[in-house]
Amino acid sequence: MMSNVDHKIKHVAIIMDGNGRWAQGRCRPRVWGHVRGSSIVSDMVEEADELGLKALTLYAFSTENWSRPPKEVMTLFSLLRKFLLKERARIIKNQIQFRVIGDYSSLPQVTIDLIEGLQEETKNHQGLKLSFAFGYGGRSEIISSVNSLIAQGKTEITEEDLQGGLFYPEAGDVDLLIRTGGDQRVSNFLLWQIAYAELFFTSTKWPDFTREEFRGIVYQVAGRERRFGQIQSVDSLSESHKMARVNKDLIETITPQVH
Ligand code: FPP
Repeated sequence: MMSNVDHKIKHVAIIMDGNGRWAQGRCRPRVWGHVRGSSIVSDMVEEADELGLKALTLYAFSTENWSRPPKEVMTLFSLLRKFLLKERARIIKNQIQFRVIGDYSSLPQVTIDLIEGLQEETKNHQGLKLSFAFGYGGRSEIISSVNSLIAQGKTEITEEDLQGGLFYPEAGDVDLLIRTGGDQRVSNFLLWQIAYAELFFTSTKWPDFTREEFRGIVYQVAGRERRFGQIQSVDSLSESHKMARVNKDLIETITPQVH
């Protein structure tokens, strides 16, 4: 466990990209890449836990992924089910709080039952908050939050209101977004939550990603100064907001009113 990482980097989100190219580069079908890619997911969860992270969010299936060939979509569904069956006991033993964020209603009923059973069973766990984004889109998450606030009768909302209506508000803002596979895009992932995230792009394709590379990235980024728009480094966005309010009040009192 590292000492200075856990307070700076609390929530890591990962876009697990490059499975298809990894497989094609080995003259294998794309789905083979997903199979290999899913086999390293548990290692990364374990590493996140050892690093003392509070939350890990993994992009497993985006709303755009629905346009992929049905065989590939079915493979991703089945890998999720297999992961849940295989890792359920370990998730419970390690006090991990498990969530799926997104619209997973089109998954087979057996998988929905597995997801909801595990969410219920782990809802009071105090360990790593592990979420899989499945059938997920960042814009639609924001819209869904706004719509639930409208349904509550709100006519004016705050940032806290919107944050509270997200799929998994307890996971909080993302401190570090990692994307494997070489592309430098955020692809509609956690749009609200990454407002001040550090971004890290690696050309390593997801099936080749290792615990060592993961740890190296977290260490490296924890060493980077996070300024949240200030001159000095601060530890959190809320600390920065607090300081901004104090400064704004001070400046307003000392600035002569112009009429
Ligand atoms: C991107 O690779 C990856 C995905 C669309 C899915 C990620 C899913 C997994 C790693 C397996 C799911 C496992 C669990 C346990 C939920 P790509 O196909 O876009 O790769 P490419 O960019 O090379 O085409």
